[in-house]
Amino acid sequence: MTKADVLLGLQWGDEGKGKIVDVLTPGYHIIARFQGGPNAGHTIEFDNKKFILHTIPSGIFSNDKVNVIGNGVIIDPYVIKKEIEQLTDGGIEVGDNLLVSRKSHLILPTHRLLDAVYEKAKGDKKIGSTLKGIGPTYTDKISRNGLRIGDLEKANFDELYHASRERHLKTVRIYQQDFESVLIDGMPFTEYENVWFEALETVRGLKKINSEYYLNNALAQGMRVLAEGAQGTMLDIDFGSYPFVTSSNTITAGMCTGLGMAPSKVGEVYGIFKAYCTRVGSGPFPTELFDDTGQQLRDIGNEYGSTTGRPRRCGWLDLPALKYAVMLNGVNELMMMKADVLNPFDEIKVAVKYKVNGEITEEIPYDETGVEIEPVYETLKGWNTELSPEGKYENLPEELKNYVSFIEEQLNVPVKIISVGPDRDQTIRR
Ligand code: GDP
Ligand code: IMO
Ligand code: MG
Repeated sequence: MTKADVLLGLQWGDEGKGKIVDVLTPGYHIIARFQGGPNAGHTIEFDNKKFILHTIPSGIFSNDKVNVIGNGVIIDPYVIKKEIEQLTDGGIEVGDNLLVSRKSHLILPTHRLLDAVYEKAKGDKKIGSTLKGIGPTYTDKISRNGLRIGDLEKANFDELYHASRERHLKTVRIYQQDFESVLIDGMPFTEYENVWFEALETVRGLKKINSEYYLNNALAQGMRVLAEGAQGTMLDIDFGSYPFVTSSNTITAGMCTGLGMAPSKVGEVYGIFKAYCTRVGSGPFPTELFDDTGQQLRDIGNEYGSTTGRPRRCGWLDLPALKYAVMLNGVNELMMMKADVLNPFDEIKVAVKYKVNGEITEEIPYDETGVEIEPVYETLKGWNTELSPEGKYENLPEELKNYVSFIEEQLNVPVKIISVGPDRDQTIRR
């Protein structure tokens, strides 16, 4: 009997999860996504090729691995069809190496409409959703109104679909009568619904399984499973800066419910973070930089959303937030990404505490929007030099090693991987 390891983001998403899952895949038999949906954008680069995945696990690039989309994930046929096309165009085979849980929920065209009208109605209080239908689809799941992948195997699927559609449109009309003017991926609703139905045929052709049995049997046979998180801990529905969060549990506990894994089956917990911070969408971000330094991080780090192309907000590393994430997830190995982005800086700041309404604390306040948070910084010396990807950890600049040691001491968890570029090969292991 083996246990399943999990890799998850410790910040606000986009930490580089896709890259590292791809790097770790050779050591596993099965890679499984457990939550989120096409709001995720996981980038993988190798051999001068670049792929962005939204629903399919990042293990898909290694031959002979099985990729499972777990019950906790929500699937948009339109998006997954495009993903499969992107992969096959790039010479990556998608067939029996992709298995989908019958219990994953479907994102319907009307979920996307609802997402759009709800966000619009929020005005300047908008979440900054990716508008992929995430909130409305998980809402239907929790309120026991959702449609699942397994329902596609039922004879009355069309009837079920139309009942949901009508129920959703009643609500949409309250917000916007002329909903045909709301464009979904550039298309009016009816046109989008047609392409969605075409894409549904692709989903009908995917191999469907009862993934909780499949994965538990795999562990019983000694197979190695890696669970791939989406989003990040600070976007968790329970522990993120509510309401500026996503609609799923992005933490280790989400893997248990999103794959059907008992807590006793959780093995290593890999926590991944950028050497600085980014956030896309609205919501609190204590170390955000509004100055040239913030712009420099955005430019050098190419900080533009993988899913929406929106510029990401940038700032210094936030240790109170990272400590919180380590605690909530039970992280036992850390991975630091994008160290190369800090190459040109003479000095690097790290927030070690917060000053909340004048009082020093290490805790994340209950309502981050209702208080004044001022980060308390320590300044470390930058390494101010290019990094060689072939290099061993020992040969990295002293200042970078000091930066890593400082983080390890603060978080009391070892940093095992340092990423120095987007390519698979630009990865230094310790
Ligand atoms: P994910 O959502 O956590 O998988 O991360 P994204 O793919 O959305 O964003 C990470 C971005 O950083 C992608 O464009 C990656 O190609 C890129 N990236 C990953 N690791 C590194 C790194 O070490 N250095 C640099 N410069 N870019 C990186
Ligand atoms: P990956 O897996 C970064 C953010 C959105 C928005 C909020 C809610 O690539 O790290 P939603 O569409 O879920 O209703 O949006 O969450 N968000 C992400 N930010 N990376 C992601 O995924 C994200 N998925 C959602 O920008 O602020
Ligand atoms: Mg991303």
